[in-house]
Amino acid sequence: MSMEKRRPQYDPKSLLNSQPVIITVVDPATYRVQFQNETGLKKFGDISDAPCYEKIAGCAAPCTFCRMPETMQTGEITCNEVLLPNNQCLLVQWSKAVTVDGRIHIVETITDITERKRTEKALQQAQKMEAIGRLAGGIAHDFNNLLTIINGYSQLVAEELAHHPCRKDLDMIRQAGSRAAALTKKLLAFSRHQVLDQKPLELNALIRDMEEILRCLIGEQIKIVTLLNPEAGEVLADPVQLEQVILNLVINARDAMPQGGVVTIETSNVDLSDDYLHRHPGAKPGRYVALSVRDTGCGMDAETQARLFEPCFSTKEVGKGTGLGLATVYGIVKQSGGYIEVASEVGRGSTFKVLLPRIEAKIQDAQTFTVPERRAEHHKTVLVVEDESGVRSFIATILRTQGYHVLEASDGVEALKLMQTHAGACRLVIADVIMPRMNGPALAQHLAAFIPDLKVLLISGYTGDTISANGVGERCVFLPKPIMPRTLADKVQEMLSN
Ligand SMILES: Nc1ncnc2c1ncn2[C@@H]1O[C@H](COP(=O)(O)OP(=O)(O)OP(=O)(O)O)[C@@H](O)[C@H]1O
Ligand SMILES: [Mg+2]
Repeated sequence: MSMEKRRPQYDPKSLLNSQPVIITVVDPATYRVQFQNETGLKKFGDISDAPCYEKIAGCAAPCTFCRMPETMQTGEITCNEVLLPNNQCLLVQWSKAVTVDGRIHIVETITDITERKRTEKALQQAQKMEAIGRLAGGIAHDFNNLLTIINGYSQLVAEELAHHPCRKDLDMIRQAGSRAAALTKKLLAFSRHQVLDQKPLELNALIRDMEEILRCLIGEQIKIVTLLNPEAGEVLADPVQLEQVILNLVINARDAMPQGGVVTIETSNVDLSDDYLHRHPGAKPGRYVALSVRDTGCGMDAETQARLFEPCFSTKEVGKGTGLGLATVYGIVKQSGGYIEVASEVGRGSTFKVLLPRIEAKIQDAQTFTVPERRAEHHKTVLVVEDESGVRSFIATILRTQGYHVLEASDGVEALKLMQTHAGACRLVIADVIMPRMNGPALAQHLAAFIPDLKVLLISGYTGDTISANGVGERCVFLPKPIMPRTLADKVQEMLSN
């Protein structure tokens, strides 16, 4: 007798029950549920014989998103993504099935895609912010060079024309230049290319120091409550920038409560859970300190929340808001290795929660240099390396008026050649961080090999990352652009007399 290999037999019901998706069979004539698999039973309970629209979507009539009639007509499998009022997102598919007695019914398959959608949206948002950040950073970089020339020369000319009739006009240019510099600084902050002076600090102390200012700022109609957890750890951050973060959040809270209300500033320790990491692609697990600013103001709709951190997004009247407040906050928080999230509902206030990485051990405050006593330094040689010829000649002009002997090079390679052949002593190099062929930090590293006591003043409006990435951060002093003549002269004198 031949041993015929028998194919396994399955019970169709148990196959359907084993599926993680919800499977429901519906009679298209009445919309009544004829069959539910186990997953469906768990989700909706027993809804057999009830209309599917009533029990699944909570509607009084067939749902607007339902494509069951289309499937009945064409025989094609149809599908739709459905957003429920509780923000749940479902993928619903409809296909035809024939009953044993020959009637046509519809199999409705429902997959919960809420998590997938949330992750996709978060990723898209992160990519969008990244792209806008690059754009803003690029513009700010070029503007900084232009503003160094505009503001710098304006200051020089203003000193020359102290009593000239044109002085008032010149002051208008200088005021506009300062405003442009302030805007550029915000764009740089957003694009995470600010130069941060990070040090270990206690958020609680910082908030306590600011309380008085905040109270004055928000007026008497609004009450400030601080709930500072004494256990809240230290963070590594730039105190000036962090003050800016708190200030921007509190000012926004004030603007959201024109009739008065309460703003609550709270600190606590937070360990990032798997759930958080899942919802925030790119977030790193670890210990954080949370700073939250909560208000009882007007709140925000979903559309506003989605665009909140974009530069130049503002719902305030023209002339009232630049829309750069939260963009700045976003950039500072991100550049500090943190995260920011918002919870808000229209009419029910808003909570902004900033998470900053907690530092475990106290780190010694890194001091780049101490300010020496001032003394005139003349006839010393300074090498200026900058690819923007306008900025380079502006710096050279200032230094020459101060009595320095100035050498100029347009990039690192040219500077290196110059220094190898230059006969006299040169103790200071001023170099732009980003240049073609060889950048400032790389030049500093090369020069340190044969001039050990050489001082390096790196200038850039663009980035602090490049410096630390090149590992020369401790040996170099940094001056952010736009550079003003007085600041430059002081810094150079300070470095050469140190
Ligand atoms: N606490 C809040 N409550 C309600 N809406 C807010 C709150 N914070 C921010 N917003 C909304 O986000 C928008 C952007 O805020 P952002 O701070 O970036 O700019 P702005 O306040 O409009 O202008 P700027 O800060 O440059 O003066 C605001 O216009 C407002 O619509
Ligand atoms: Mg604001």
